[in-house]
Amino acid sequence: MRSYTLIAPGKINLYLEIIGDRPDGYHELVMILQSIDLADRLEIRSLGTQEIRLHCNHPLVPLNETNLAYRAAQLMMEEFPQAYANYGGVDITLDKKIPIAAGLAGGSTDGAAVLVGLNLLWELGLTIPKLQNLGEKLGSDIPFCISGGTAIATGKGETLDAIQDLDNLWIVLAKYQNVSVSTPWAYQTYKQEFEDTYTKDLKNIQSRSSQIHSGPLVKAISHQNLEQIGKLLHNDLEKVVLSQYPQVAQLREILQQAGGVGTMMSGSGPTIFTLCNSKQEAEKIKQKARQAIEDPNLEFWITTLSTTGIQVVSV
Ligand code: C5P
Repeated sequence: MRSYTLIAPGKINLYLEIIGDRPDGYHELVMILQSIDLADRLEIRSLGTQEIRLHCNHPLVPLNETNLAYRAAQLMMEEFPQAYANYGGVDITLDKKIPIAAGLAGGSTDGAAVLVGLNLLWELGLTIPKLQNLGEKLGSDIPFCISGGTAIATGKGETLDAIQDLDNLWIVLAKYQNVSVSTPWAYQTYKQEFEDTYTKDLKNIQSRSSQIHSGPLVKAISHQNLEQIGKLLHNDLEKVVLSQYPQVAQLREILQQAGGVGTMMSGSGPTIFTLCNSKQEAEKIKQKARQAIEDPNLEFWITTLSTTGIQVVSV
């Protein structure tokens, strides 16, 4: 029976600005998203029985409908009942490499991989935009995870415009194993504290969304101006997460002082990243931070930026 192996990269936010409320309860965002080489690996195969089976090497990853990979399979079964009837259920083996609840879209990218994998397994012939429309129903980051690279994301995060790839950069990621942040909590807390700064008028929201396209960070990326990129990294959610988690704020401070192009929290955190010019620089920064914070729960990853989203590596 046929199977597919897929590589599902994580992402960081180079820019995350919250500009307003949406009628659906979500927030209007302006983001610049970037894929990274730290990736999960999924193997997807058809089952003779009508069920979804999910296996994972990580003990804390749920294997039911709270997992986006599982939900992506459910969604495909609902949307394509004929294919489901023909091909049967699906067995998904997830090799988890991206830390969980870390602000790196680890769950979203697994969901994205299942959509791409079932499209192939069931020979549906869906286009990338069609898969992204399906992905949007499951989570705001899934459309980006499918196509990856470097992109402006507006709306809930689902409206994407690819921009010049930012490659040849290394990255240090640091996260306390025992600290995780709930994304709904981060957005709700931000709303409680900063709702008075929200743009209320739809026209203003649209104009702020379009400004990013000609904004300084996009210009710096298109000129590959690393100094400017480092200075212009931004994440509104730092305001609520760093004050609630002083340990993470201290980690951010130490990484920033250790060097590199620039340091920022990714998504709703608590992962902190530093962009670096080389692997050697990344190693040095990791060592400095490791010496400054002697905590066995603090984990580091050194990886590169990636120009791709979900990749099919074997059939
Ligand atoms: O879309 P996703 O399920 O990944 O979002 C997780 C949570 O993040 C949402 O339940 C919501 O609380 C918050 N969120 C938001 N506005 C967005 C994206 C996410 O408020 N644009």
